[in-house]
Amino acid sequence: MIDYLGDQTKFKACHELPVFNSKDIKSQVMEWIQNKTNFLQDKISRGFWMKIDYKDLAKSAPALIEYLKHVKIPIQEITVGVLTEVMTDGFVMHHGSPGRNFKINFPIHNTEDVYTEWYDIPEHDIRQFPEIINQYTSEACYDLSSIHSTVDKLYPQRVRYNMHSCPIVFNSYLPHRVMPGPDAKYPRIMLATMPVQDPFDLMKLS
Ligand SMILES: [Fe+2]
Repeated sequence: MIDYLGDQTKFKACHELPVFNSKDIKSQVMEWIQNKTNFLQDKISRGFWMKIDYKDLAKSAPALIEYLKHVKIPIQEITVGVLTEVMTDGFVMHHGSPGRNFKINFPIHNTEDVYTEWYDIPEHDIRQFPEIINQYTSEACYDLSSIHSTVDKLYPQRVRYNMHSCPIVFNSYLPHRVMPGPDAKYPRIMLATMPVQDPFDLMKLS
């Protein structure tokens, strides 16, 4: 599965997409979160990913669907990532598992001073970590949690990215963690969408 990384000297870890209607996306998604979830009151969850009725969210957030039509990338699933105030140590170092790795993420709430950090971990080193099954995809991946708090001293950082107003497309197979800075506000909420095909595959000629 490590081969999925390809030659990483030729790729960026993440890419900013045009803003277009981001204000509408934010307000519609926030309204849905207020009406249908307890995310804004949640001070204790540590799981980050929230199971949601994404079809209901899609109905309530036409701006999101309009955006995905605008960039011509159909999606098949939406999830919400919530960093609560007990997660001041961040969301654990991890990587996605092959199959569907490219995600398009949207900043929704309290995204300032929270950073997604991607690290360059050589293939040989990654293979030394224990294999686990990703509970969301049922695919194998490596458990990188043992280096969550030390990765910055062990491996070169590729990018440290703070979501502001741009949606981003990124390869979640590359090892990354989410780290709040001292001025982060909670809950920090981000919306992740999974394209039907990896954007890379959309570029195939047949
Ligand atoms: Fe991730």
